[in-house]
Amino acid sequence: MNNTELQTKGSREQFKTRFGFIMAVAGSAVGLGNIWRFPYITGVHGGGAFVIIYLVSIFIIGATIALTEMAIGRHGGSDVVEAYGQYDKRFRIPGFLSMIAVTVLMSFYNIIGGWSIYYFIQIISGKFTGISSGEVESIFGNFIVNSPQVAIFTIIFLAVNTIVIVKGITEGIERVSSIVMPALFVLLIVLVIRSLTLPGAKEGVIWYLKPDFSKVTGSTIVAAVGQAFFTLSLGSGAMATYASYLSKDESLPKATYSVVITDTLVALLAGLAILPAVFAFGVSPGEGPGLVFVTLPSIFGKIPFGAFFGAMFFAFFFFAALTSSISMLEVSVTYLIEKKKMERKKAAIIMSIVVLLLGIPPLMSFGSWSHIEIFGLGLFDLYDYFVSNISMPLVGLAGALVICWVWDKQVAKDEVTSNSKFEFRLFNIWYNLTKYLVPILLILVFLTATGILKI
Ligand code: PHE
Repeated sequence: MNNTELQTKGSREQFKTRFGFIMAVAGSAVGLGNIWRFPYITGVHGGGAFVIIYLVSIFIIGATIALTEMAIGRHGGSDVVEAYGQYDKRFRIPGFLSMIAVTVLMSFYNIIGGWSIYYFIQIISGKFTGISSGEVESIFGNFIVNSPQVAIFTIIFLAVNTIVIVKGITEGIERVSSIVMPALFVLLIVLVIRSLTLPGAKEGVIWYLKPDFSKVTGSTIVAAVGQAFFTLSLGSGAMATYASYLSKDESLPKATYSVVITDTLVALLAGLAILPAVFAFGVSPGEGPGLVFVTLPSIFGKIPFGAFFGAMFFAFFFFAALTSSISMLEVSVTYLIEKKKMERKKAAIIMSIVVLLLGIPPLMSFGSWSHIEIFGLGLFDLYDYFVSNISMPLVGLAGALVICWVWDKQVAKDEVTSNSKFEFRLFNIWYNLTKYLVPILLILVFLTATGILKI
C-alpha cells in the first residue's frame, strides 16, 4: 500500500500512514491501564490467577469488541453517536453514553497524569534518594491531599492534551503517537531488565505467574473484564472515533489485532517491571492505586542510579497517559465538529473546560471530600467503577448488537474486509462470538458488576 493512497480524501482528515494509525490506536490503548491499573489490580486480586482470567477476557471479549468498534467507527465515517445510530437511531443512546463516560474518564485520568508530572520533578531533583519508605509514603499522602497543588499539575497535563488535539489528527495525534510509542517500548524494556536483575526479584516473578485460583470470585471476573475494556479503550468511543479517520484501503483486522497484541505485551511487561521490584523490597503487592506512587519511588530511592530510572519511569508514565487521554478528548471533539459544525480549536477548548470541572469531585476526594461515599465508594472510585465496570461493558454490548443484529451480515463483512480487498479468515469466528457468546458474557458481567447477580 502506498502512503499517498491513505491520505486525505474529501474534506475529512485521515491518518497519513498505517504505522501512524496503529501507533495512535496503540497509544490510546497503552496507558495508565497498563502501567498503573493492571499491576495494582493484579496485586489486589492475587497475581497469576487474575492474569490468566484477564488474558482470556482480552482474547475472547476484548479483541472481538475491538474489531466491532473499529468497524462501526470506520463504517460511520463520522462521530460516535452517528456511527452507532447509523441504521437504527435508538443506538445513538449508547453512542452518547460512551461520549459521556469517556469524558468522565478523562476527568479523573488527568489527575493521575498530573501526579506523574509532579513525581517526575520530585524524582529528578533527588527528593526520594536515601529516604525511608515511611517518608515516601508521607510525600504521597501530603501531595494528594493538597488539592490546589494537584489541580495545577492536572491543568498542565490537560493543557498539553488540548494543544495536541487542536493540532488535529495528522499533525497532532498521529505525529505525537508515532514518536512517543516506539520510545516507550524501549524505555519499558530497560525498566524490565533493571527490575529483573534486582536481588530477590525471582519471588515476584513467581507470584506474578503462579496462579492461585482460590482467590477467584465473581468480582475477580468483573475486574478482569473491566480491565480488558479499560486497557483496550473499549466502550468509550475512542476506537470508533479513531477508526472513522482511517481509510477504507486499510485492513481493519490486522490493525486491530496488532494493537491488541501490543497492548497485552505492554501490560505483561509493565507487570514484570513493577512486581518483581516490589517483591525484591519486601513490600505488599496489594498496595492498590498507590503502588506506583509509593512503592516504586521508595525502590528508586534505594537502587544505584535510582533517580535516573525513576525519572525514566515517570516520563514513560506521562507519555503513555498522554497518548491515551488525547484519544478520550478526541471523541467529543469529533462530535462537536461533526454535529455542531464547531471549529476544532473551539471544540477542544470547550471540552477541556468541561473535563476540568468534572474532575473537581475526584480531585477533592483525595482531600477534604475524602469522607464522601456513594454506594460505598469514594468519588474517585465511583467515577472509575461507573466507567470501567458499567458503562464500558454496556456500550460494548451495544456495539455487538449493532453489528450482528442491526446490520446485515454482508455489510459487516464488507466493512471488515474492505469490500473483499483483504481476506479475513477468522470472519465467521469473530462474527459468531460477537453475535452470541460475547453479548451473553457481557450481560453476566454487567449483572454481577451491579450486584444483581452474585457469584
Ligand atoms: N486504554 C487506556 C489505558 O489503558 C484508557 C482509555 C480508555 C483510553 C478509554 C481511551 C479510552 O490507560
